[in-house]
Amino acid sequence: MEMDSIYMGLQKPSEDVYSTVNQPQGKRAGAEQGDPTAGKAPPYRWAALVLAGLCALSVAAIIFLAVYILSFQTKSLELQSQYSELERNYTNISATVFTLEKNYSNISAKYSALDQYCPVTDTSSKEQVCKACPQNWELFNGKCYYFSTDRMNWNSSRDNCTSLGGHLVIIESDGEQGFLSDKAWNITQEANIINEEKSYWIGLTDAVTEGTWLWVDGTPLIGNDQAKFWATRSDGGKEPDDYKGEDPSGEDCAQLEPKSNSQKTWFDASCTKQYERICETKAVIA
Ligand SMILES: *[C@@H]1O[C@H](CO)[C@@H](O)[C@H](O)[C@H]1NC(C)=O
Ligand SMILES: *[C@@H]1O[C@H](CO)[C@@H](O)[C@H](O)[C@H]1NC(C)=O
Ligand SMILES: *[C@@H]1O[C@H](CO)[C@@H](O)[C@H](O)[C@H]1NC(C)=O
Ligand SMILES: *[C@@H]1O[C@H](CO)[C@@H](O)[C@H](O)[C@H]1NC(C)=O
Ligand SMILES: *[C@@H]1O[C@H](CO)[C@@H](O)[C@H](O)[C@H]1NC(C)=O
Ligand SMILES: *[C@@H]1O[C@H](CO)[C@@H](O)[C@H](O)[C@H]1NC(C)=O
Ligand SMILES: *[C@@H]1O[C@H](CO)[C@@H](O)[C@H](O)[C@H]1NC(C)=O
Repeated sequence: MEMDSIYMGLQKPSEDVYSTVNQPQGKRAGAEQGDPTAGKAPPYRWAALVLAGLCALSVAAIIFLAVYILSFQTKSLELQSQYSELERNYTNISATVFTLEKNYSNISAKYSALDQYCPVTDTSSKEQVCKACPQNWELFNGKCYYFSTDRMNWNSSRDNCTSLGGHLVIIESDGEQGFLSDKAWNITQEANIINEEKSYWIGLTDAVTEGTWLWVDGTPLIGNDQAKFWATRSDGGKEPDDYKGEDPSGEDCAQLEPKSNSQKTWFDASCTKQYERICETKAVIA
């Protein structure tokens, strides 16, 4: 309806404008009584008003669109930062998963060794009784010791202790040395093989630098109180002597040879000789 009236106004402007201006007075007076368009605002003003309205509508639409686009941009920025945070999190999680996988394989490798602490004692109930030390290991002062019955050279002994989840024994105190010497002596007595050489490799060697004795964990013996555990030979000579009579490369590995009533039980020996060994590991329950 509005559009129609605008058109009408534009198509026939003369009818209204000129008729108003040119009509004689009498006709105008008559028109005041009979003409339906008389007394209303001129149609061009309607057109202007409608155009202004359209203009206002357009401005409103533009403002609305601008606000909409701005909020859209803000959202997009937000999403972008969230995306990069997710990417960072993903990298972080990947790294965590990687170390977890490595830790898992490490733990799996140790599981079989740990299993010895909890042997299935009753196969019918599958009940496990866990101990501080693996089966056949001796508990002393929070640590477990394995006195082997088989013999190996020093390198193999070191590797075997590692494969059992421990290391060749590292002796750190008088108490520990006393326990090991006593235990080794008792085993010797029980086995009743006093005349047979029965000696245990310990985790001490000077194979890298002659005269520099190192424990298997890299700790040096030099300057340590424990050096007093070296034995005195039956001929009165002091150990270690790096004796080259049997092995021209000398004696670079330490063994514990049990004696009655003496703590000075260490001798150096050729690393290639076969002896029993003492392995050590931490007790799981102190
Ligand atoms: C990223 O990880 C942190 C915790 O590390 C969490 O608070 C944040 O919500 C995560 N971000 C996303 C986008 O998932
Ligand atoms: C990465 O993960 C560690 C935990 O594994 C967490 O402390 C740290 O806040 C994370 N970093 C990021 C950027 O999410
Ligand atoms: C993996 O194990 C090491 C110790 O071996 C520990 O410090 C680290 O936090 C562990 N990593 C995870 C992701 O559990
Ligand atoms: C796995 O074990 C090896 C040696 O036992 C160690 O060097 C390495 O750091 C361990 N890795 C983790 C992730 O704990
Ligand atoms: C013992 O192992 C070390 C490496 O730890 C090696 O250098 C040395 O040659 C080995 N000795 C013998 C006799 O096999
Ligand atoms: C270590 O020695 C024990 C016997 O004392 C043996 O059962 C085991 O197979 C040995 N392990 C290796 C890797 O030689
Ligand atoms: C050695 O045997 C004696 C006598 O049987 C005993 O009293 C002592 O506790 C034993 N020592 C060790 C470390 O087994």
